Amino acid sequence: MNKEKSINTEKSSSRITRNVAAIQGSNKNSGLMTSMLKYAAKEAEKAGHNVEYINLHNCSIDYCKGCRNCFETGECILKNDDMVWIANSIKNADVIMLAAPVYWANVPAIVKNLFDRMSGTSMEETNTFPKPRLSGKRYILFTACNTPMPFAAVCGQTSGLKRAVSEYFKTSGISCIGSVVCDNSSKIKEVPENKLKRIKKLVNKI
Ligand SMILES: Cc1cc2nc3c(=O)[nH]c(=O)nc-3n(C[C@H](O)[C@H](O)[C@H](O)COP(=O)(O)O)c2cc1C
Repeated sequence: MNKEKSINTEKSSSRITRNVAAIQGSNKNSGLMTSMLKYAAKEAEKAGHNVEYINLHNCSIDYCKGCRNCFETGECILKNDDMVWIANSIKNADVIMLAAPVYWANVPAIVKNLFDRMSGTSMEETNTFPKPRLSGKRYILFTACNTPMPFAAVCGQTSGLKRAVSEYFKTSGISCIGSVVCDNSSKIKEVPENKLKRIKKLVNKI
């Protein structure tokens, strides 16, 4: 029994501390997205990880100008807004937790603009395929939508969002740990227990 105890202790003390960037793409402080991300962030902190919470709606983020300089330099030309520290935070993170509700079967504009502004930080253009600049990192996606399952997936709501999110992360070299979807959101007030369990399970994989 003692031996078993010491093995468990060793296991938990040898756990690696990760840097986690928790990115909030919803403006609603009392919405499902906020509840899911805050729960995940709390679980990650309880496990000893360093979590930086980034609410995009509290940040000043200009639109991508499409100049394409960043593809060569790895840095955005715009230096006077919050993207400077947000890009650094993502570069320093081992894991990115993104909360993005479904807007028109895609991510909200503020999240799309984050992807646009992260372009050169995330990948380099070559004569053939883009070369990822953030390889080795991993992400967890949280999303919510009004449409109930299975229609949300079959009719392209969550599948549209997931495709857009995966395009950014995959091209950046960031692999997926997993995702949690809260569907039928206008009918539920709180994140269902089974979704919280899934969030906890994914956070344990950090
Ligand atoms: C501009 C806008 C577009 C939306 N588009 C969709 C959609 O295409 N499909 C869907 O199922 N829900 C859609 N919704 C509903 C949201 O995904 C849903 O309300 C979600 O729960 C929002 O999460 P939050 O309250 O945590 O921000 C949309 C909501 C807004 C405001």
